[in-house]
Amino acid sequence: MSHGISGLDPTQGVIMEVITVANNKGGVGKTMQCYQLICHLASKGNKILVVDLDSQANLSSTLGAQIKRTLIPEWLIGDVDLEDVVISAEGEADFYENISVIPSSRHLANLAKLLILSEAEVRKNAGRKERLLRHRLSEVGSEFDFVVIDTPPMLGDELIMALVASNRVLIPTQAQDYSIDGLEELMDTFEIIKETENHELIFSIIPSMVNLRRKIERQRMDELAQSFNCTPPIRNLVQMQESISLGKPIFMMGKSSKGKQDFAALWDALEL
Ligand SMILES: Nc1ncnc2c1ncn2[C@@H]1O[C@H](COP(=O)(O)OP(=O)(O)OP(=O)(O)O)[C@@H](O)[C@H]1O
Ligand SMILES: [Mg+2]
Repeated sequence: MSHGISGLDPTQGVIMEVITVANNKGGVGKTMQCYQLICHLASKGNKILVVDLDSQANLSSTLGAQIKRTLIPEWLIGDVDLEDVVISAEGEADFYENISVIPSSRHLANLAKLLILSEAEVRKNAGRKERLLRHRLSEVGSEFDFVVIDTPPMLGDELIMALVASNRVLIPTQAQDYSIDGLEELMDTFEIIKETENHELIFSIIPSMVNLRRKIERQRMDELAQSFNCTPPIRNLVQMQESISLGKPIFMMGKSSKGKQDFAALWDALEL
């Protein structure tokens, strides 16, 4: 299947799919789901480019790609090339060799400042700052099958750039009132970007860290499903935290692992 980045000429041969995991609410399982998605896709032989757009750099460290100072701001404005910012993921399984990471660090917090200082370059390269990431990814070519982007818990430049650059966005959402109320802001942003910059962008809500034994959470999940396109849920399980701390993806857990079953159902529903 071909998934060109929207806005690009399909004859350029760009066949990679760009997937962003986003929610402006913190601690909902974005980085966890990114990690599981990356390992799942890489284990099937796909070449993955990971872009960590969160200055907390949790995904970078989970993938063994920690660095002192990220060059993402410089890469976005065109001062350095892809090979200057990409490093290999490190982990025990063979599939890690399919994962390349553009790692983050606290320095990413300087992005907004640099974008103001570099207004002329931004205009020359991409027209507007929202398009910078899409512009840079359009130069990546066909060496990667998927780009997976983790984003910070706020509706800032990083998240907007990621949405403009993506084919689809996965939105982990907890089945609780505050989380569901907070979705409105993100969905408004999604709609604006879809109308203006990225007509083909699609989204899926992933009920995340769900406790299925709690009636109130089951009710909230039903309500969510009435308003949005929802996937099967990911339960709140201790083994998910273990997966991150051991650096071992959930699909490598035992057959009876609930987490493994949840993620298998999720990837199935998303056709990934
Ligand atoms: N399904 C789950 N079951 C149990 N724990 C989970 C689950 N998903 C994530 N966690 C744990 O919850 C915490 C927050 O998860 P995670 O870091 O993925 O959220 P996040 O949305 O990326 O947070 P932030 O907004 O700060 O980037 C982590 O300690 C993670 O290990
Ligand atoms: Mg995170």
